[in-house]
Parts: sequence; C-alpha cells; structure tokens
Amino acid sequence: MIDQIYRKAVLTVSGQKFVEDLVRSRGFGLAQRFVAGEDSASAIRAVQELEKDGILGNLDLLGEFVASPERANEFAEKVLNLLDEAHAAGLTPYVSVKLSSVGQGQTVNGEDLGLANARRIVGRAKAYGGFVCLDMEDHPRVDVTLGQFRTLVNEFGNAHVGTVLQSYLYRTEADRDSLDDLHPNLRIVKGAYLEPETVAMPDKADVDASYRRLVYAQMKAGNYVNVATHDESIIEDVKHFVLSHGIERDRFEFQMLYGVRRDLQRELAAQGYRVRAYIPYGRDWYPYFSRRIAERPANVMFVLRGMLRG
Ligand code: FDA
Repeated sequence: MIDQIYRKAVLTVSGQKFVEDLVRSRGFGLAQRFVAGEDSASAIRAVQELEKDGILGNLDLLGEFVASPERANEFAEKVLNLLDEAHAAGLTPYVSVKLSSVGQGQTVNGEDLGLANARRIVGRAKAYGGFVCLDMEDHPRVDVTLGQFRTLVNEFGNAHVGTVLQSYLYRTEADRDSLDDLHPNLRIVKGAYLEPETVAMPDKADVDASYRRLVYAQMKAGNYVNVATHDESIIEDVKHFVLSHGIERDRFEFQMLYGVRRDLQRELAAQGYRVRAYIPYGRDWYPYFSRRIAERPANVMFVLRGMLRG
C-alpha cells in the first residue's frame, strides 16, 4: 500500500507542468541514467555494447500520445527508419511501440491510423526477420490495443508481433485467456501508470501474485513469455517453475529496463538465460523518466541530488 501511495504521489507531482519544466531545464544529463541517448545512433550503440555481455536489445523511440495525424505519421516514419538503421547495423531489429504515438484513436480514410501505421512497422520488421512489441499504456487503451494486436497477429503471424499485459489490472488474467488461440508472444509487466482502484489492484502483494499466475499460465499454454521485471523473488520463482515443468529456455526470456539492475541482467545472461534490455532513446524522455522515478523511492533522491548539482 505504501508503494502505491508513493507511486501515486510521484506521478501526480511529476504531471505538474512546472515540475516538468524544472526537470527538463536540467537537460538530458538527468535522464541518461535510464535513457540511452537522444538519437537512434546512441541507442544502436547501446545495443551493441550490451550484446558484448550476451544481452539482447529492445529499442524504444520515446513518445506518447500525439494528437495530429501528421505528428503520428512522422513518428511512424522515425520508427521505420530505426528498423532500417538497426538492420543496416547488423542487428535483428526488435522494437517497442506505443500505439498512441502512431495515431491510435485517430480515424483517417475510415481506418484507425494507429493500426495503419502499426501495419507498416510490423511489415518492415518482418521483412528483416525482426519483432515489434506493442507496449501497453493506461487502461482506457487496453481493449483497442488488444483488438489491434489480434488483427496484426492474424495478418503477420505471432513470430513478428507481440504485446504486453499488466498484472495490476483486475481484467488481465481473463485477457490472457482470451488471447490463447493466437499463441501470443506476451510481455508480462506489473504496470506503470496511475490507475484508479476500480480497475487496478492497490495492494502490491496482489499485483505480484497476479504476475506469477500470468507468467505460469502463459508458460503452461506453451506460449512464449517475456518475463519483464526486476523483482528477484519472482525471477527466482520463475527459474524454479521452468525447471519443475520442463519448460525449455528458448520458450521465455527475462526483460529489464536499461539502467536498472545491470548486475542482475549480466548474471542471468551468464547463467545461460535469454535476457533483453529495453533501450529507450529520444528527446521526449520526460514521461518515461517520471514513471521510472515513481517505481523506487531511492530514485527521487537521485533526481533531487541531480537538481541540486545543477
Ligand atoms: P517492483 O516495482 O516490485 O520492483 C522490484 C525491484 O526492482 C525493486 O525493489 C527495485 O530494487 C527494482 N526496481 C524496479 N524499478 C526500478 C527503477 N525504476 N529503478 C531502480 N530500481 C528499480 N509497464 C507498462 O505499464 N507498460 C509497458 O508496456 C511496460 N513495458 C515494460 C518493459 C520492460 C522490459 C520492463 C522491465 C518493464 C516494463 N513496464 C511496463 C514497467 C513495469 O510495469 C513496472 O513498472 C516496472 O518494471 C517496475 O516493476 P518491477 O516488475 O521491476 O517490480
């Protein structure tokens, strides 16, 4: 409960315009603990660095909801360029995309622009043998994102597109069951948005228990799972679960965020598990940065120290 109060407080304060202006005024220096750089070249370099430790990358051009079709199309073009650049650099491109950043909810020529742009992005990734994960945003977007995910899997197959389920939402176990016919590639997370108690569990113990159930159900169904957490007790439990249920190591991977628990990322990779780091980059880093600060009380001290240093 304390965790939830802390998280709500940080997300509420960081949503204030003057706080955003203050933090942004300190420049990118503050963000670089969690963000690989402001351009795609820095992000690709970060993947190449991590690969030396046996860790794979998941590139994320930072950006959230955009209100105009022009901006959404521009953003989609940047993601397409990223796929081209990653391929040219010799990587198998793996990217994450928020559908709200490419036009979800805006209708153009009778079609949802987010879906139209996602089609272009998944198509390009597929041509390079790559993968696109549709990030999950706040709860009003879950239905439409899962619907669009279903459409994309039907069109491109489940080897090139996946999505995310958040264990803090009451609805999520039923959502996972409802996707089983697709044998979907799912990233399981706890959830990072400020959500009302009517839709999301307020108690961390419940969120953690739901997390384990989701991962185990996904594994038992024989579907690929991205176990995206830094929670060591969950990671240990998952290791035991896969051993006791004979789940092969190529049926799941551990995923963590760039700049968080690098020690654990390296340790798991050295133990022979597939590990992938989520590597955000771009100029629109503030909302992503705020969510990372909200996840851990010690991170607020990190920001305050950075602000005082100037
Ligand atoms: P928890 O919050 O319980 O933390 C476990 C331990 O990890 C903490 O005690 C702390 O030591 C460490 N830790 C966690 N966060 C930290 C931080 N920011 N800084 C330093 N230490 C930290 N969410 C979402 O809603 N939609 C999405 O699409 C995604 N995508 C996504 C991809 C990947 C690869 C990851 C790892 C996470 C996401 N998330 C997400 C974020 C997710 O919902 C969640 O907010 C964070 O992963 C933090 O939760 P943990 O599972 O790590 O557990």
